[in-house]
Amino acid sequence: MMAWRPRICPFHRLVEHVRQGSRVLDIGCGNGLWLFLLAELKRISGGVGMDISPQRIQTAEQLRGTRNSLRFCAVNPDDPWPTDPVDCVTMIDVIHHVPPQRHRAFVQAAAKNAASRILIKDIDPSAKFKSGANTLHDLVLSRQRPRYCRPDDLCTWLGESGFKVRLRQRCDMLWYSHFLIVADRI
Ligand SMILES: C[S@@+](CC[C@H](N)C(=O)[O-])C[C@H]1O[C@@H](n2cnc3c(N)ncnc32)[C@H](O)[C@@H]1O
Repeated sequence: MMAWRPRICPFHRLVEHVRQGSRVLDIGCGNGLWLFLLAELKRISGGVGMDISPQRIQTAEQLRGTRNSLRFCAVNPDDPWPTDPVDCVTMIDVIHHVPPQRHRAFVQAAAKNAASRILIKDIDPSAKFKSGANTLHDLVLSRQRPRYCRPDDLCTWLGESGFKVRLRQRCDMLWYSHFLIVADRI
């Protein structure tokens, strides 16, 4: 599953927005694929991955091996997030797994982190057919109905939290529609 993920998720587009030598907090890191990719490309000096799934964190820890610049932690949904000093916070396909009434607070929590850059990648709900394809994907693989968030709302909440949106881009891969937001602290 991890080997196939880069064919449907635009990691190749995301990498260029992580500044060389950054430290990254990856929220909803799953099995750690994104941080492993950044570490293998020598793009980052270190990273912290957090997720509410202890099983995924356990897999990430097992795959971490001797990459001592990375760490992974399981966090309960209402618990505080890791406070390691980082330059960049990333959220890849996480928002649509968070209940809609918590979307805004979730973005605000990411913005409270000391990071100077936030990178969000999610599914574009305006693409009706393609977001439907992702809904099917999530229902089958995670047995969870995704609750998409409009990129306009994310940009508004980032603005309210002291971030300026530098880039907002749609990027489709196969039958999946993605949007990417890059925001920097003002
Ligand atoms: C579709 S997976 C994406 C995993 C990874 N970001 C990637 O792109 O490969 C969504 C992940 O978000 C996690 N997640 C869902 N709600 C979360 C929350 N409130 N806080 C942190 N992680 C969460 C899930 O456990 C899952 O691992």
